Amino acid sequence: MTSVCIAGLQWGDEGKGKFVDYLAKDAKIIVRFQGGNNAGHTIVINGTSYKLSLLPSGILHEGKISFIASGVVVDLESLYNEIERIRQSGVKISPENLKMAENISIILPIYKKLDLLIESLKGENKIGTTGRGIGLAYQDKVGRRSIRLCDLNEEEIVHERINAIMQFYSPILEKHDPSFNGDLARQEMLEYIAKYKGFFKEYLVPANFLQNFKEENILFEGAQGAMLDVSFGTYPFVTSSNTLASEVYIGAGFGGKLNRVLGVAKAYCTRVGFGPFPTEDFGEDGKVMQKNGAEFGTVTGRIRRCGFLDLVALKHIIELSGVTDIILTKIDVLNGFKKVKVCTAYELEGKVINYIPASEKLQKQLKPIYTELEGWESGYSFNKLEELPLTLKNYIKFIESYTNTKISILSFGAERKDSLTLNKIW
Ligand code: IMP
Ligand code: MG
Repeated sequence: MTSVCIAGLQWGDEGKGKFVDYLAKDAKIIVRFQGGNNAGHTIVINGTSYKLSLLPSGILHEGKISFIASGVVVDLESLYNEIERIRQSGVKISPENLKMAENISIILPIYKKLDLLIESLKGENKIGTTGRGIGLAYQDKVGRRSIRLCDLNEEEIVHERINAIMQFYSPILEKHDPSFNGDLARQEMLEYIAKYKGFFKEYLVPANFLQNFKEENILFEGAQGAMLDVSFGTYPFVTSSNTLASEVYIGAGFGGKLNRVLGVAKAYCTRVGFGPFPTEDFGEDGKVMQKNGAEFGTVTGRIRRCGFLDLVALKHIIELSGVTDIILTKIDVLNGFKKVKVCTAYELEGKVINYIPASEKLQKQLKPIYTELEGWESGYSFNKLEELPLTLKNYIKFIESYTNTKISILSFGAERKDSLTLNKIW
Protein backbone atom coordinates (compact mmCIF):
# COMPACT_ATOMS: atom_id res chain seq x y z
CA MET A 1 0.00 0.00 0.00
CA THR A 2 1.21 3.48 -0.88
CA SER A 3 -0.35 6.76 0.10
CA VAL A 4 0.30 9.85 -1.91
CA CYS A 5 -0.90 13.39 -1.38
CA ILE A 6 -1.04 16.04 -4.07
CA ALA A 7 -1.11 19.56 -2.71
CA GLY A 8 -0.73 23.02 -4.19
CA LEU A 9 2.41 24.93 -3.24
CA GLN A 10 1.31 28.41 -4.28
CA TRP A 11 -2.01 30.28 -4.22
CA GLY A 12 -4.07 27.54 -5.84
CA ASP A 13 -4.67 26.79 -9.50
CA GLU A 14 -1.29 25.11 -9.91
CA GLY A 15 -2.81 22.41 -12.09
CA LYS A 16 -3.32 19.78 -9.39
CA GLY A 17 -6.41 18.35 -11.03
CA LYS A 18 -4.55 17.01 -14.04
CA PHE A 19 -2.17 15.01 -11.82
CA VAL A 20 -4.79 13.75 -9.45
CA ASP A 21 -6.51 12.46 -12.50
CA TYR A 22 -3.23 11.11 -13.93
CA LEU A 23 -2.34 9.26 -10.71
CA ALA A 24 -5.86 8.14 -9.94
CA LYS A 25 -5.63 5.15 -12.27
CA ASP A 26 -3.22 3.43 -9.87
CA ALA A 27 -5.12 4.29 -6.69
CA LYS A 28 -8.05 2.43 -5.21
CA ILE A 29 -9.49 5.48 -3.50
CA ILE A 30 -9.21 9.21 -4.12
CA VAL A 31 -9.87 11.53 -1.20
CA ARG A 32 -10.76 15.22 -0.86
CA PHE A 33 -9.82 16.31 2.67
CA GLN A 34 -10.26 20.10 2.96
CA GLY A 35 -11.89 23.09 1.30
CA GLY A 36 -15.21 23.07 -0.48
CA ASN A 37 -16.68 24.28 -3.72
CA ASN A 38 -14.33 27.24 -3.70
CA ALA A 39 -12.01 24.81 -5.52
CA GLY A 40 -12.19 24.26 -9.23
CA HIS A 41 -10.29 21.80 -11.37
CA THR A 42 -10.43 21.58 -15.11
CA ILE A 43 -9.45 18.15 -16.34
CA VAL A 44 -9.03 17.51 -20.03
CA ILE A 45 -9.36 13.90 -21.20
CA ASN A 46 -9.19 13.14 -24.93
CA GLY A 47 -10.25 16.65 -25.77
CA THR A 48 -13.25 16.68 -23.41
CA SER A 49 -12.91 19.06 -20.53
CA TYR A 50 -14.56 18.35 -17.19
CA LYS A 51 -14.99 21.05 -14.57
CA LEU A 52 -14.97 19.62 -11.07
CA SER A 53 -15.42 21.57 -7.90
CA LEU A 54 -16.14 19.27 -4.99
CA LEU A 55 -16.11 15.83 -6.53
CA PRO A 56 -12.72 14.13 -6.22
CA SER A 57 -11.09 13.92 -9.66
CA GLY A 58 -11.10 10.13 -9.31
CA ILE A 59 -14.78 10.16 -10.14
CA LEU A 60 -13.84 10.23 -13.83
CA HIS A 61 -12.25 6.77 -13.54
CA GLU A 62 -14.31 3.63 -13.47
CA GLY A 63 -13.75 1.22 -10.62
CA LYS A 64 -12.40 3.84 -8.19
CA ILE A 65 -13.86 5.08 -4.96
CA SER A 66 -14.08 8.80 -4.43
CA PHE A 67 -14.26 9.88 -0.79
CA ILE A 68 -15.19 13.33 0.47
CA ALA A 69 -13.76 13.34 3.97
CA SER A 70 -14.62 15.22 7.15
CA GLY A 71 -12.29 18.17 6.63
CA VAL A 72 -14.33 19.32 3.65
CA VAL A 73 -17.36 21.61 3.90
CA VAL A 74 -20.22 20.71 1.60
CA ASP A 75 -22.78 22.92 -0.08
CA LEU A 76 -25.56 20.39 -0.65
CA GLU A 77 -27.16 22.25 -3.52
CA SER A 78 -23.90 22.83 -5.32
CA LEU A 79 -22.72 19.22 -4.92
CA TYR A 80 -26.09 17.91 -6.02
CA ASN A 81 -25.91 20.07 -9.16
CA GLU A 82 -22.32 19.05 -9.82
CA ILE A 83 -23.23 15.36 -9.60
CA GLU A 84 -26.10 15.88 -12.04
CA ARG A 85 -23.93 17.87 -14.44
CA ILE A 86 -21.08 15.34 -14.47
CA ARG A 87 -23.55 12.46 -14.83
CA GLN A 88 -24.91 14.15 -17.94
CA SER A 89 -21.50 13.84 -19.56
CA GLY A 90 -21.76 10.08 -19.16
CA VAL A 91 -19.84 9.59 -15.88
CA LYS A 92 -21.36 7.10 -13.42
CA ILE A 93 -21.84 8.48 -9.90
CA SER A 94 -23.62 6.44 -7.25
CA PRO A 95 -23.23 5.45 -3.59
CA GLU A 96 -21.03 2.65 -4.97
CA ASN A 97 -18.25 4.97 -6.09
CA LEU A 98 -18.89 8.14 -4.08
CA LYS A 99 -18.70 8.17 -0.28
CA MET A 100 -19.03 11.06 2.14
CA ALA A 101 -17.95 11.17 5.77
CA GLU A 102 -20.96 11.65 8.01
CA ASN A 103 -19.17 14.24 10.16
CA ILE A 104 -18.82 16.74 7.31
CA SER A 105 -20.11 20.24 8.11
CA ILE A 106 -22.51 21.68 5.58
CA ILE A 107 -22.68 25.10 3.96
CA LEU A 108 -26.06 26.78 4.48
CA PRO A 109 -27.59 29.34 2.09
CA ILE A 110 -27.25 32.02 4.77
CA TYR A 111 -23.45 31.56 4.72
CA LYS A 112 -23.21 32.72 1.13
CA LYS A 113 -25.21 35.82 1.96
CA LEU A 114 -23.00 36.50 4.97
CA ASP A 115 -19.81 35.86 2.98
CA LEU A 116 -20.78 38.58 0.49
CA LEU A 117 -22.02 40.93 3.22
CA ILE A 118 -18.86 40.60 5.32
CA GLU A 119 -16.73 41.18 2.26
CA SER A 120 -18.65 44.33 1.37
CA LEU A 121 -18.32 45.63 4.95
CA LYS A 122 -14.56 45.17 4.73
CA GLY A 123 -14.37 47.70 1.91
CA GLU A 124 -10.77 48.11 0.78
CA ASN A 125 -9.56 45.30 3.03
CA LYS A 126 -11.73 42.66 1.47
CA ILE A 127 -10.25 39.22 0.91
CA GLY A 128 -11.75 38.60 -2.50
CA THR A 129 -13.38 35.34 -1.43
CA THR A 130 -15.15 33.10 -3.89
CA GLY A 131 -18.45 34.03 -2.21
CA ARG A 132 -19.29 30.41 -1.57
CA GLY A 133 -19.72 30.74 2.20
CA ILE A 134 -16.59 28.68 2.89
CA GLY A 135 -15.26 30.88 5.69
CA LEU A 136 -18.62 30.94 7.44
CA ALA A 137 -18.94 27.17 7.29
CA TYR A 138 -15.54 26.65 8.91
CA GLN A 139 -16.24 29.40 11.42
CA ASP A 140 -19.44 27.67 12.49
CA LYS A 141 -17.71 24.30 12.60
CA VAL A 142 -15.16 25.66 15.06
CA GLY A 143 -17.92 27.66 16.78
CA ARG A 144 -19.81 24.38 17.42
CA ARG A 145 -22.99 25.51 15.68
CA SER A 146 -22.55 23.65 12.44
CA ILE A 147 -25.05 21.21 10.97
CA ARG A 148 -23.29 18.07 9.83
CA LEU A 149 -24.36 15.46 7.34
CA CYS A 150 -25.19 13.05 10.17
CA ASP A 151 -27.59 15.67 11.59
CA LEU A 152 -29.68 16.22 8.50
CA ASN A 153 -32.32 13.69 9.52
CA GLU A 154 -32.30 14.67 13.22
CA GLU A 155 -35.04 17.26 13.47
CA GLU A 156 -34.30 18.34 17.02
CA ILE A 157 -30.62 18.89 16.37
CA VAL A 158 -31.32 20.80 13.17
CA HIS A 159 -33.65 23.17 15.05
CA GLU A 160 -31.21 23.62 17.88
CA ARG A 161 -28.33 24.47 15.50
CA ILE A 162 -30.45 26.80 13.41
CA ASN A 163 -31.42 28.62 16.61
CA ALA A 164 -27.76 29.03 17.50
CA ILE A 165 -26.91 30.18 13.98
CA MET A 166 -29.73 32.73 13.93
CA GLN A 167 -28.81 34.00 17.38
CA PHE A 168 -25.26 34.54 16.19
CA TYR A 169 -25.87 36.16 12.82
CA SER A 170 -29.24 37.95 13.17
CA PRO A 171 -27.73 41.12 14.64
CA ILE A 172 -25.35 41.70 11.75
CA LEU A 173 -27.97 40.85 9.13
CA GLU A 174 -30.62 43.04 10.80
CA LYS A 175 -28.19 45.90 10.87
CA HIS A 176 -26.84 45.70 7.33
CA ASP A 177 -29.32 43.82 5.15
CA PRO A 178 -32.65 45.63 4.74
CA SER A 179 -34.15 42.58 3.04
CA PHE A 180 -33.31 40.28 5.96
CA ASN A 181 -36.26 38.48 7.52
CA GLY A 182 -35.42 36.03 10.32
CA ASP A 183 -38.44 33.79 9.80
CA LEU A 184 -37.78 33.55 6.09
CA ALA A 185 -34.09 32.81 6.64
CA ARG A 186 -35.00 30.01 9.05
CA GLN A 187 -37.55 28.68 6.60
CA GLU A 188 -35.01 28.76 3.80
CA MET A 189 -32.56 26.68 5.83
CA LEU A 190 -35.21 24.11 6.72
CA GLU A 191 -36.32 23.81 3.12
CA TYR A 192 -32.75 23.44 1.93
CA ILE A 193 -32.17 20.59 4.35
CA ALA A 194 -35.50 18.95 3.57
CA LYS A 195 -34.77 19.09 -0.15
CA TYR A 196 -31.39 17.33 -0.02
CA LYS A 197 -31.30 15.14 3.08
CA GLY A 198 -32.82 12.11 1.40
CA PHE A 199 -30.41 12.27 -1.50
CA PHE A 200 -27.23 12.50 0.56
CA LYS A 201 -28.24 9.89 3.14
CA GLU A 202 -27.30 7.17 0.67
CA TYR A 203 -23.75 8.41 0.38
CA LEU A 204 -22.81 8.64 4.07
CA VAL A 205 -20.11 6.49 5.63
CA PRO A 206 -18.45 6.57 9.07
CA ALA A 207 -15.69 9.12 9.52
CA ASN A 208 -13.11 6.35 9.82
CA PHE A 209 -13.94 4.98 6.39
CA LEU A 210 -10.27 4.99 5.33
CA GLN A 211 -9.55 2.18 7.81
CA ASN A 212 -10.93 -0.15 5.16
CA PHE A 213 -8.16 0.79 2.76
CA LYS A 214 -5.06 -0.06 4.76
CA GLU A 215 -3.84 -2.42 2.04
CA GLU A 216 -4.64 -0.13 -0.88
CA ASN A 217 -3.10 2.75 -2.76
CA ILE A 218 -4.66 5.98 -1.54
CA LEU A 219 -4.51 9.29 -3.34
CA PHE A 220 -5.25 12.47 -1.40
CA GLU A 221 -6.33 15.44 -3.44
CA GLY A 222 -5.53 18.84 -1.96
CA ALA A 223 -7.48 21.94 -2.90
CA GLN A 224 -6.32 25.56 -3.04
CA GLY A 225 -2.63 26.09 -2.29
CA ALA A 226 -0.31 26.28 0.67
CA MET A 227 -0.01 30.07 0.54
CA LEU A 228 -3.77 30.17 1.23
CA ASP A 229 -3.42 28.00 4.37
CA VAL A 230 -5.33 29.58 7.26
CA SER A 231 -2.36 29.14 9.62
CA PHE A 232 0.71 29.48 7.40
CA GLY A 233 -0.49 31.46 4.39
CA THR A 234 -0.72 35.20 3.73
CA TYR A 235 -3.19 35.71 6.59
CA PRO A 236 -5.84 37.14 6.59
CA PHE A 237 -5.83 36.87 2.78
CA VAL A 238 -6.26 33.11 2.93
CA THR A 239 -8.98 30.53 2.74
CA SER A 240 -10.45 29.13 5.95
CA SER A 241 -9.02 25.62 5.90
CA ASN A 242 -5.54 24.21 6.36
CA THR A 243 -4.34 23.55 2.86
CA LEU A 244 -0.94 22.03 3.66
CA ALA A 245 -0.51 18.36 2.83
CA SER A 246 -0.21 17.57 6.54
CA GLU A 247 -3.92 18.38 6.88
CA VAL A 248 -4.51 14.90 5.41
CA TYR A 249 -4.18 13.31 8.84
CA ILE A 250 -7.01 15.31 10.40
CA GLY A 251 -9.07 16.22 7.37
CA ALA A 252 -9.31 12.69 6.06
CA GLY A 253 -9.09 10.80 9.33
CA PHE A 254 -5.99 9.10 8.00
CA GLY A 255 -4.21 6.95 10.57
CA GLY A 256 -1.40 5.88 8.26
CA LYS A 257 1.65 7.70 7.03
CA LEU A 258 2.03 9.49 3.71
CA ASN A 259 4.69 7.86 1.55
CA ARG A 260 4.93 10.70 -0.94
CA VAL A 261 3.90 14.32 -0.80
CA LEU A 262 3.73 15.78 -4.29
CA GLY A 263 3.76 19.54 -4.28
CA VAL A 264 2.41 21.12 -7.42
CA ALA A 265 3.84 24.46 -8.49
CA LYS A 266 3.52 26.45 -11.67
CA ALA A 267 6.74 27.49 -13.38
CA TYR A 268 5.58 31.01 -12.43
CA CYS A 269 3.04 32.27 -9.88
CA THR A 270 -0.60 33.33 -9.97
CA ARG A 271 -3.09 34.51 -7.40
CA VAL A 272 -6.82 35.29 -7.52
CA GLY A 273 -8.34 37.56 -4.95
CA PHE A 274 -6.47 40.14 -2.89
CA GLY A 275 -3.48 39.98 -0.59
CA PRO A 276 0.31 40.01 -0.72
CA PHE A 277 1.98 38.62 -3.82
CA PRO A 278 5.62 39.73 -3.76
CA THR A 279 6.52 38.75 -7.33
CA GLU A 280 3.35 40.11 -8.95
CA ASP A 281 4.34 41.50 -12.36
CA PHE A 282 2.39 44.54 -13.51
CA GLY A 283 4.36 44.86 -16.75
CA GLU A 284 4.43 43.09 -20.06
CA ASP A 285 5.76 39.77 -18.66
CA GLY A 286 2.78 39.42 -16.32
CA LYS A 287 0.39 40.14 -19.19
CA VAL A 288 2.02 37.48 -21.38
CA MET A 289 1.72 34.89 -18.58
CA GLN A 290 -1.93 35.82 -18.06
CA LYS A 291 -2.66 35.45 -21.77
CA ASN A 292 -0.54 32.39 -22.61
CA GLY A 293 -1.60 30.63 -19.43
CA ALA A 294 -5.30 31.51 -19.87
CA GLU A 295 -5.20 32.68 -16.28
CA PHE A 296 -8.86 33.06 -15.41
CA GLY A 297 -10.41 31.53 -12.28
CA THR A 298 -12.28 28.25 -12.89
CA VAL A 299 -14.82 29.08 -10.19
CA THR A 300 -15.32 32.82 -10.44
CA GLY A 301 -13.94 33.69 -13.89
CA ARG A 302 -11.74 36.42 -12.39
CA ILE A 303 -8.45 37.34 -14.04
CA ARG A 304 -5.53 35.84 -12.11
CA ARG A 305 -2.65 38.07 -11.08
CA CYS A 306 0.64 36.75 -12.50
CA GLY A 307 4.35 36.99 -11.75
CA PHE A 308 7.64 35.10 -11.81
CA LEU A 309 8.38 32.12 -9.59
CA ASP A 310 8.86 32.94 -5.91
CA LEU A 311 11.42 30.43 -4.65
CA VAL A 312 11.49 31.87 -1.14
CA ALA A 313 7.78 31.18 -0.74
CA LEU A 314 8.15 27.80 -2.42
CA LYS A 315 10.93 26.65 -0.12
CA HIS A 316 9.06 27.94 2.95
CA ILE A 317 6.04 25.82 2.06
CA ILE A 318 8.05 22.75 1.07
CA GLU A 319 9.76 22.75 4.45
CA LEU A 320 6.50 23.24 6.34
CA SER A 321 4.62 20.46 4.68
CA GLY A 322 7.19 17.75 4.04
CA VAL A 323 6.99 17.83 0.27
CA THR A 324 9.02 14.95 -1.21
CA ASP A 325 8.61 15.76 -4.91
CA ILE A 326 7.71 18.80 -6.97
CA ILE A 327 5.44 18.66 -9.99
CA LEU A 328 6.28 21.68 -12.14
CA THR A 329 3.40 22.76 -14.37
CA LYS A 330 2.63 25.13 -17.23
CA ILE A 331 6.26 25.31 -18.29
CA ASP A 332 5.07 26.02 -21.84
CA VAL A 333 3.63 29.36 -20.70
CA LEU A 334 7.19 30.64 -20.33
CA ASN A 335 8.25 29.45 -23.82
CA GLY A 336 9.67 32.35 -25.77
CA PHE A 337 10.67 34.48 -22.77
CA LYS A 338 14.18 35.80 -23.43
CA LYS A 339 14.90 35.83 -19.67
CA VAL A 340 13.09 34.10 -16.86
CA LYS A 341 13.44 35.47 -13.37
CA VAL A 342 13.17 33.66 -10.06
CA CYS A 343 12.84 35.36 -6.70
CA THR A 344 15.63 34.12 -4.44
CA ALA A 345 15.34 36.58 -1.53
CA TYR A 346 13.32 39.58 -0.39
CA GLU A 347 14.32 43.05 0.58
CA LEU A 348 12.54 44.24 3.70
CA GLU A 349 13.25 47.53 5.47
CA GLY A 350 16.66 47.74 3.84
CA LYS A 351 17.65 44.18 4.81
CA VAL A 352 17.88 41.05 2.69
CA ILE A 353 15.82 38.18 4.09
CA ASN A 354 15.01 34.70 2.83
CA TYR A 355 11.85 33.84 4.75
CA ILE A 356 8.24 35.04 4.83
CA PRO A 357 7.39 37.10 7.90
CA ALA A 358 3.92 36.40 9.34
CA SER A 359 2.84 40.02 9.67
CA GLU A 360 0.44 41.28 7.03
CA LYS A 361 2.08 44.69 7.17
CA LEU A 362 5.56 43.28 6.51
CA GLN A 363 4.34 40.88 3.83
CA LYS A 364 2.98 43.81 1.88
CA GLN A 365 6.40 45.49 1.97
CA LEU A 366 8.42 42.55 0.66
CA LYS A 367 10.39 43.45 -2.46
CA PRO A 368 11.55 40.48 -4.52
CA ILE A 369 15.22 40.09 -5.34
CA TYR A 370 15.55 38.21 -8.60
CA THR A 371 18.08 35.92 -10.19
CA GLU A 372 17.81 36.09 -13.95
CA LEU A 373 18.16 32.94 -16.06
CA GLU A 374 18.17 32.44 -19.83
CA GLY A 375 14.79 31.59 -21.35
CA TRP A 376 13.93 28.93 -23.94
CA GLU A 377 12.05 28.87 -27.23
CA SER A 378 8.98 26.77 -27.99
CA GLY A 379 8.97 23.80 -30.37
CA TYR A 380 11.12 21.41 -28.29
CA SER A 381 10.36 17.78 -27.68
CA PHE A 382 9.72 16.71 -24.11
CA ASN A 383 9.83 12.95 -24.48
CA LYS A 384 13.04 12.76 -22.48
CA LEU A 385 14.87 15.05 -20.09
CA GLU A 386 17.88 14.96 -22.42
CA GLU A 387 15.82 16.45 -25.25
CA LEU A 388 14.82 19.60 -23.36
CA PRO A 389 16.57 22.87 -24.20
CA LEU A 390 19.66 23.36 -22.05
CA THR A 391 18.33 26.64 -20.62
CA LEU A 392 15.13 24.91 -19.49
CA LYS A 393 17.16 22.13 -17.89
CA ASN A 394 19.10 24.84 -16.06
CA TYR A 395 15.86 26.40 -14.85
CA ILE A 396 14.73 23.03 -13.50
CA LYS A 397 18.08 22.40 -11.81
CA PHE A 398 18.05 25.84 -10.25
CA ILE A 399 14.66 25.21 -8.64
CA GLU A 400 15.73 21.78 -7.38
CA SER A 401 18.90 23.04 -5.84
CA TYR A 402 17.31 26.11 -4.21
CA THR A 403 14.48 24.08 -2.68
CA ASN A 404 16.50 20.92 -2.00
CA THR A 405 13.69 18.94 -3.56
CA LYS A 406 13.53 16.87 -6.71
CA ILE A 407 11.17 17.73 -9.53
CA SER A 408 9.51 14.45 -10.49
CA ILE A 409 7.01 15.47 -13.14
CA LEU A 410 7.17 18.24 -15.71
CA SER A 411 4.02 19.48 -17.37
CA PHE A 412 3.72 21.33 -20.67
CA GLY A 413 -0.01 21.54 -21.27
CA ALA A 414 -3.48 20.59 -20.12
CA GLU A 415 -3.70 17.10 -21.61
CA ARG A 416 -2.47 13.96 -19.90
CA LYS A 417 0.07 13.35 -22.66
CA ASP A 418 1.73 16.76 -22.18
CA SER A 419 3.87 15.55 -19.29
CA LEU A 420 7.27 14.08 -18.64
CA THR A 421 7.68 11.85 -15.58
CA LEU A 422 11.24 11.83 -14.25
CA ASN A 423 10.64 9.74 -11.12
CA LYS A 424 7.99 7.08 -10.80
CA ILE A 425 5.32 7.98 -8.25
CA TRP A 426 3.60 4.73 -7.26
P1 IMP B 1 -12.67 31.60 0.12
O1 IMP B 1 -11.98 30.28 0.13
O2 IMP B 1 -13.83 31.64 -0.84
O3 IMP B 1 -13.05 32.07 1.48
O4 IMP B 1 -11.65 32.69 -0.47
C1 IMP B 1 -10.50 33.09 0.25
C2 IMP B 1 -9.33 33.31 -0.69
O5 IMP B 1 -8.91 32.08 -1.23
C3 IMP B 1 -9.63 34.21 -1.90
O6 IMP B 1 -8.47 34.94 -2.20
C4 IMP B 1 -9.93 33.22 -3.00
O7 IMP B 1 -9.68 33.77 -4.27
C5 IMP B 1 -8.91 32.14 -2.66
N1 IMP B 1 -9.31 30.81 -3.14
C6 IMP B 1 -10.20 29.97 -2.59
N2 IMP B 1 -10.27 28.82 -3.28
C7 IMP B 1 -9.40 28.92 -4.28
C8 IMP B 1 -8.98 28.02 -5.32
O8 IMP B 1 -9.44 26.87 -5.44
N3 IMP B 1 -8.04 28.48 -6.17
C9 IMP B 1 -7.49 29.71 -6.03
N4 IMP B 1 -7.83 30.58 -5.08
C10 IMP B 1 -8.78 30.19 -4.20
MG1 MG C 1 -8.59 25.95 -9.15
